[in-house]
Amino acid sequence: MMAIISLVNNKGGVGKTTMTVNLAHALANRQKNVLVIDLDSQCNSSSLLVDNKFVEESLYDILNGENDDIGKAIYSTPYDRLKCLANEEETSALEFDLSANLPDNYNILRANIKEYVNDKFDYTLIDCPPNLGFFVINALVASDFVIVPVMCGSRFSIEGLTKAIKLVHYIQQEDDNDPTRVSNPDLRFLRLAINSIDKRTTMSKVILERLKKNFGEDQIFETNIGMSTVFHQAEDLNKTVIRHAPRSVGARAYRDLAKELCGVLGDSDEGE
Ligand SMILES: Nc1ncnc2c1ncn2[C@@H]1O[C@H](COP(=O)(O)OP(=O)(O)OP(=O)(O)O)[C@@H](O)[C@H]1O
Ligand SMILES: [Mg+2]
Repeated sequence: MMAIISLVNNKGGVGKTTMTVNLAHALANRQKNVLVIDLDSQCNSSSLLVDNKFVEESLYDILNGENDDIGKAIYSTPYDRLKCLANEEETSALEFDLSANLPDNYNILRANIKEYVNDKFDYTLIDCPPNLGFFVINALVASDFVIVPVMCGSRFSIEGLTKAIKLVHYIQQEDDNDPTRVSNPDLRFLRLAINSIDKRTTMSKVILERLKKNFGEDQIFETNIGMSTVFHQAEDLNKTVIRHAPRSVGARAYRDLAKELCGVLGDSDEGE
């Protein structure tokens, strides 16, 4: 199995980072070799997974063309089989320079990482920033699949969602009249992943029903991640939920999600 999966939603705070890191840990516990690429220069997933005093080379050096061995930007984490391609805040400034050469530079992440990660990892999860700009387009061009995490607590989360899905469709299409246009016809929208649902509230139920109606039940992971304070606690201690509270409902949900993901991708079942 080799899959590069982007977690995309232009809305902030919907759980992209939490889902990337916990799903990655759950996949690693299923004996998969997993890489998290932190594509967000807020660096949240890097700081959850890697002690930043050890970070020397990072995504910055790769995108800047100053790194000829991407392995130098990939760090071990406290979790077996889980590694992280770390980011630094400085990377945000590169967007301006790299945007001078478009659409070529929409391909810069793919050109640098695809062969390497397919050789070394079963799953590569890309934690994206909360927009649909340069870095997210790079992620979609480099990816095989997209997961869109969505929070069920508010109507606005649905409104933002359609923009993300439109961008995925745009990247999927090749345009014969414009061969220079950025595209990735191999990209597949995998599923929406419902996060932070509170099944006791009517709002959550209403929004879940609306999502099923608008997108189709087969476009949504059956496993939902419930709202729980355990995620804040784990984040505060700089741990995944699976390490911080392995018996919590939150940890169990991520184990279930990893299992469901492997099933959807037809990956053989090695974990528990
Ligand atoms: N299921 C959940 N229940 C409760 N809180 C959650 C849940 N999932 C994530 N959170 C919390 O929500 C906040 C936002 O999550 P996270 O940082 O993962 O979102 P994000 O989409 O990556 O944000 P950004 O767009 O800024 O990168 C965090 O404090 C996180 O701990
Ligand atoms: Mg984030």
